[in-house]
Amino acid sequence: MEANNEDAPQHARFWQEQARRYDRAVRLLNRRFDEMARAVASSVQGCGEVLEVAAGTGLVSQRLAPKVGRLVATDTSTEMLKILEGRLNAGSHSNVEIRIADAQALAFDDQTFDAVVMANLLHLLPEPALALREARRVLRPGGVLCAPTFCHGEHLLAHGVSRVLAMVGFPVVTRFSGDSFGRLFKQEGLRVQERQRFPGVLPLCFIVARRDLRAPASPRQA
Ligand SMILES: C[S@@+](CC[C@H](N)C(=O)[O-])C[C@H]1O[C@@H](n2cnc3c(N)ncnc32)[C@H](O)[C@@H]1O
Repeated sequence: MEANNEDAPQHARFWQEQARRYDRAVRLLNRRFDEMARAVASSVQGCGEVLEVAAGTGLVSQRLAPKVGRLVATDTSTEMLKILEGRLNAGSHSNVEIRIADAQALAFDDQTFDAVVMANLLHLLPEPALALREARRVLRPGGVLCAPTFCHGEHLLAHGVSRVLAMVGFPVVTRFSGDSFGRLFKQEGLRVQERQRFPGVLPLCFIVARRDLRAPASPRQA
């Protein structure tokens, strides 16, 4: 699968247009989606400052907000964020800041957050390593990165469904298997601490990784 930055406007349009259909569709693609969202919240429970990138409609954010000190929920799609805002207001969560942000170029200082959550994004990016590098940069040493991701290459059924989705415009770039997904974190100097798998039509591979306490800002500086 090839995708480059020329596809970016088309991909951005897709999320703007699909925002209202997203919640229903995602739960059909994996019936354990809500269980996964609860597992994300448990993995960062008690953290003070938490950044969520690609927060979408807030299905994960609503679980995170009650478990952390402060949540900065971000996405590139204003339509997605409108739904997220409505959902979090309905839940009376007052510790959430909502911002537009591109996961590949985060406008936050180095070492700002105790945890970063990046759910269901890495398979959509032309350069997933870039988003991991950005997450690692804004994490404090010892900070936690939680990144559950749909693995479209995990089994034959997932691959077939993914091809059909691509035909109707779904912007998948990388069809990860659980193994290729795990390798991405190691290559970027993140220590994988926990792995889980939530089976489904499209399986969710769940990774919790940590930025090492004494690691340099970028693995390339080592
Ligand atoms: C599959 S949805 C995941 C939403 C949410 N995290 C969840 O798991 O329900 C992907 C989201 O990524 C956002 N997105 C796509 N490219 C992005 C980028 N470069 N930076 C930040 N968000 C992006 C889309 O707008 C969309 O809301």
